[in-house]
Amino acid sequence: MSGSKDSDGGWRNFIWNSEKKEFLGRTGGSWFKITLFYVIFYGCLAGIFIGTIQAMLLTLSDYKPTYQDRVAPPGLSHTPRSDKSEISFTKSNPATYQKYVDSMHSLLQKYNDTLQTEELKFEDCGETPQDYINRGSLDDTEGLKNACRFLRSWLGSCSGITDKSFGFEEGKPCLIVKLNRIVNFKPKVPSNDTLPEALKGKSVKYLIPIHCKNKREEDEGKIGEIKYFGINEGFPLQYYPYYGKRLHSQYLQPLVAIQFTNLTTNEELRIECRVYGDNIEIGEKDRYQGRFDVKFTVNS
Ligand SMILES: *[C@@H]1O[C@H](CO)[C@@H](O)[C@H](O)[C@H]1NC(C)=O
Ligand SMILES: *[C@@H]1O[C@H](CO)[C@@H](O)[C@H](O)[C@H]1NC(C)=O
Ligand SMILES: *[C@@H]1O[C@H](CO)[C@@H](O)[C@H](O)[C@H]1NC(C)=O
Repeated sequence: MSGSKDSDGGWRNFIWNSEKKEFLGRTGGSWFKITLFYVIFYGCLAGIFIGTIQAMLLTLSDYKPTYQDRVAPPGLSHTPRSDKSEISFTKSNPATYQKYVDSMHSLLQKYNDTLQTEELKFEDCGETPQDYINRGSLDDTEGLKNACRFLRSWLGSCSGITDKSFGFEEGKPCLIVKLNRIVNFKPKVPSNDTLPEALKGKSVKYLIPIHCKNKREEDEGKIGEIKYFGINEGFPLQYYPYYGKRLHSQYLQPLVAIQFTNLTTNEELRIECRVYGDNIEIGEKDRYQGRFDVKFTVNS
């Protein structure tokens, strides 16, 4: 009985000790000091945190990415694209290739001629490869930058204009390829000795060429003729550099369309495509750096 009274009294004493005027073991003055200490301490922490972020933001430019070492050099991407890079269809059954055709139509929408008529935003940069077009500095002191036109009709039978199925209906599928955009990147043309046999002797002045071939030896001779469409079958330099989304909002990446006109049917064929340029490395780890490979199966 007395024991319980004692422990009870001990608790009460701890919460409010009227003798020493202590609340939870501290006097009012002590509580005030410790509170003040923590307010100042956390205030300083928050200040340092906000200050650091502000300083970081000041060093970033609205126009040019500060850190882009992870993305350069450019990736090569293709449409249609599918899981595991497999493109498999039956030419007599449109349902098997409809998704591929849809993705190509949607990519090419913004390359419609009618969307590139505004003279203040677009300009003609020639239909043959030309040198880089310098559009001034990477900020807005000289205003927004024009974009070079790129008409989908230049992609010939892979333009989706005459053949709405992009060749799939006849078992001659097209792929549309682009180099991913990198602000301020200027691809360099390849030197002669780095080109594959098939491209040697072709002019690569102002052009980043692309070439596809069988990936596996056993597919040798099964790929058939490959046709390339676009400006001189490659990526011409006049479309570079790209000035970024804000300054170059109408920018159109140059495209190359690749049509496989005589693929052996009812077999999986592995095809590798790559671009050639002196500052375009081929990634060992990254499957889309400067190259890609696709597996085609055309069922008759
Ligand atoms: C682009 O042109 C195609 C036919 O050539 C048309 O079906 C499509 O609606 C057009 N898209 C735009 C956004 O104008
Ligand atoms: C590459 O070879 C072509 C044809 O042989 C030639 O016209 C061109 O000048 C060569 N380019 C370089 C950079 O050597
Ligand atoms: C297509 O390829 C086959 C061999 O796979 C060949 O016999 C045929 O002549 C080729 N057709 C054309 C038009 O090149």
